[in-house]
Amino acid sequence: MTWRATVFTLFPAMFPGPLALSLAGRALAERAWALETVDIRDFARDKHRSVDDTPFGGGPGMVLRPDVLAAALDSTADSGRPTLLMTPRGTPLDQARVRRLAEGPGVRLVCGRFEGIDQRVVEARAIEEVSIGDVVLSGGEPAALALLDAAVRLLPGTVGQAASHAEESFAGGDWGGLLEYPHYTRPQVFEGRTVPEVLLSGDHARIRAWRRQQAEELTRARRPDLWARRAGAH
Ligand code: ADE
Repeated sequence: MTWRATVFTLFPAMFPGPLALSLAGRALAERAWALETVDIRDFARDKHRSVDDTPFGGGPGMVLRPDVLAAALDSTADSGRPTLLMTPRGTPLDQARVRRLAEGPGVRLVCGRFEGIDQRVVEARAIEEVSIGDVVLSGGEPAALALLDAAVRLLPGTVGQAASHAEESFAGGDWGGLLEYPHYTRPQVFEGRTVPEVLLSGDHARIRAWRRQQAEELTRARRPDLWARRAGAH
């Protein structure tokens, strides 16, 4: 069964966007996954095609109407796929969640705009609110593109060498939860800067130990949250 993504958005022209290129684009052309967009505006009920309204209780901005979004969602079968709303107030997305999504039948992604969407449709359609990080985008579309990119690269047959997943940041196993060690290639001297001597030694045990130490130092310095979780797990 093909892994399927349905994106509910007011800007369907943003898709596939960058996902038509590179690895995800090749996989899309080879039908390793399928992408469909639903224009939320097609489900507006009035002649002005309005999809939003002012918030009850007052305040700035506009809110996406629950009846309009529900009609859009109900126009396509979920086929066992979870429905996720991209929003900065969502649960932070992580690699474990992406892995589980990639192992399932696909996703339905709702791209938020305006101040937000009516909470009742979130509850009525069991929508999971997801954030890609503590930054505020002008809409959920770039977040949806990021999520799709992360999931598609994990689909079977998409990344040639399984080994390239094994040691990367956030992968499981022995290096799980560590940031990646620094990389070097030719030229051996760049603007007067040399390559760490150990990497030229040919001593694979020493190289591995050096990389491990670099990964640990980097994680401790940049991501004390990840480091604490690792420390707690051992
Ligand atoms: N929409 C706006 N900001 C977002 C974020 N950080 N994550 C997911 N969706 C968003």
